[in-house]
Amino acid sequence: MRKKIVAGNWKMNTTPSQAIDLIEKLKPLVKNDDVEVIFCVPYVSLMLAVDAVKDTKIGIGAQNFYFEESGAYTGEISASMLKDIGVKYVIIGHSERRQYFNETDEIVNKKLLKAFEYEITPIVCCGETLEQREAGVTIDHITTQIKNAFRNVSDDLAKKAIIAYEPIWAIGTGVVATSDQAEEVCASIRACISEIYDKETAEIISILYGGSVSSANVKELFKKHNIDGGLVGGVSLKPEFGDVVNYK
Ligand code: 13P
Repeated sequence: MRKKIVAGNWKMNTTPSQAIDLIEKLKPLVKNDDVEVIFCVPYVSLMLAVDAVKDTKIGIGAQNFYFEESGAYTGEISASMLKDIGVKYVIIGHSERRQYFNETDEIVNKKLLKAFEYEITPIVCCGETLEQREAGVTIDHITTQIKNAFRNVSDDLAKKAIIAYEPIWAIGTGVVATSDQAEEVCASIRACISEIYDKETAEIISILYGGSVSSANVKELFKKHNIDGGLVGGVSLKPEFGDVVNYK
């Protein structure tokens, strides 16, 4: 049985003092040993966040980093910096980064390889636009994104990755994919991993759903065989996040 994972993507929200207040508020609400809980906070709050959860099982993740080792990349943050401060996870290829910061499949792949080099668990995002869904190319598009992301990644490393399927039309819109729509794509991602690697790898890898996850829809989504948890945006900034973690 794959363990459920609930990761909060705080995006560009909360100052460091607000982040610590929020973590202290959420800590007692997210006590569920059956669920791995992750807070992906803004860069400037990472060190404080790592310290704030040190007496808990909550993991801290970054929302991005740059794939080069070090050097003249003004404004960027490296994987070694994240590793050094105790960051355990990193989101890679979120649709907002693809849309606003020109993150391509090639960049996603470089980041995935670099995250593994530093033993930081990547949360690799994929997802289709509404136009792609309506054109019937969702599965093709997602399969291409996954194949490109995992290029040159060994099966042993792939097993450690977390994949998040986030239909772009469901992000921040309140329009959640139906559990059948989400399951269909998550199952096809697992089939794609099985094709690239093998069945064993596909069975071990965790695949999350993201896009308007809330306490109202979490139960329905999480009971699907191929949905191993959620990547949560808006609700991760509220006490309701506790209800998502304690979904049973
Ligand atoms: P919402 O939960 O706000 O729709 O955001 C989803 C998301 O983008 C998480 O990465």
